[in-house]
Amino acid sequence: MKIHILGSSAGGGFPQWNCNCPNCAGWRAGSPRYRARTQSSIAVSADGANWLLFNASPDILQQLREFPALQPARSLRDTAIRAIFLIDAQIDHTTGLYMLREHSQPLQLWCHALVRDDLTHGNPLFNLLGHYCGVNWHDVPLAGAGFTIPGLPGLHLNALPLISNAPPYSPHRDRPQPGDNVGMTLTDERSGKRLFYAPGLGQMEPQVWVAMQATDCVLVDGTLWTDDEMITLGASKKTSRAMGHLPQSGPGGMLEWLDQLPRSTRKVLIHINNTNPILDEESPQRRELTRRGIEVSYDGMEIEL
Ligand code: MLT
Ligand code: MN
Ligand code: ZN
Repeated sequence: MKIHILGSSAGGGFPQWNCNCPNCAGWRAGSPRYRARTQSSIAVSADGANWLLFNASPDILQQLREFPALQPARSLRDTAIRAIFLIDAQIDHTTGLYMLREHSQPLQLWCHALVRDDLTHGNPLFNLLGHYCGVNWHDVPLAGAGFTIPGLPGLHLNALPLISNAPPYSPHRDRPQPGDNVGMTLTDERSGKRLFYAPGLGQMEPQVWVAMQATDCVLVDGTLWTDDEMITLGASKKTSRAMGHLPQSGPGGMLEWLDQLPRSTRKVLIHINNTNPILDEESPQRRELTRRGIEVSYDGMEIEL
C-alpha cells in the first residue's frame, strides 16, 4: 500500500495568509528551519495505479500538479482518482471539491450521512456540484466487517466514529455525533499491512485505541502542541480539545498515547497547525518527537506499507 501525503497542514496551511506567529514570520523571513505546507489531504493506493483521495483541500490543484501519478493521461480527460473519501465536512477537507467540477462523470464521494447533511444544508456544496459534474454519494458503514470501494483493488476500509468536532456552520458544532468525524483503518489485502488515519482526533476512546494498536502505522492528529496554544498566542479563545484536536503535550496528550504503542509501529503526525512549534525543525519540541521516534509528515512524503 502506498500512502502519499498531499497536504500535511491543518486548516489555513503553513504559512497562513494572515498570520505572523513565530513560525509563519520565520518562514517568510527565509529561515531554513521551516518548510511550507498545504492543507490536509492524502492519497492511498494498493496497486499503485488506482488511488483513493482522502479529503479535498483548498490546495488540491497545487497538490495534483506536484503528484503526477494522479494524472496518468490515458485519454483527453483522465484521472487516477477513483473515489474521494471525506472524513468530515470541515472547510479544509471539502473546499477542493469545487476544483474537481470539470470531471466527466459524477464524483464518487464516500462520507457519513451527517457529513452529507452538512454539505447539503449548512454548506450546500453537493447541491452546487449538481450543476457541474454531480456527486454520486456513498454512505459509510461505521461498524461490522468494513467495506471496499469499486475501482480500488486490494484496499479494505474500516471506518470508526471519532469524537472531534463538526464545522462551525454545522447544527451539531460542539455536540459531536457519531459519524461527523471518522477515523479509518486501511488494510492492504495482499500484504495484510494496515494504516490508521485520523487527522482530527479529539479524544482517545477505547475503540480508537484498539484500532491504533492493531496497525503498522498511525497517521494521526498533530494539530497543536499545547491545549492552550491558540489562547496563549492570542489567536483564538478555544482550547485544542474544544476544537476537536488532542494536543501532543501534557497529561493524556497524543505523545503519552503514542509512547504506549509497540516500537515497531510507525508513528506520524499530520494536520499540523501553523502555530505548532514542531514545524520549527530545530525546536526543543521537534527534538522531543525525534527522541520518541515520532515523525512529522510533510507535503510529498511517501509511506509504503
Ligand atoms: C479543524 O480541523 O479544526 C478545522 O479544519 C479548522 C478550520 O476550519 O480551519
Ligand atoms: Mn482541519
Ligand atoms: Zn502562523
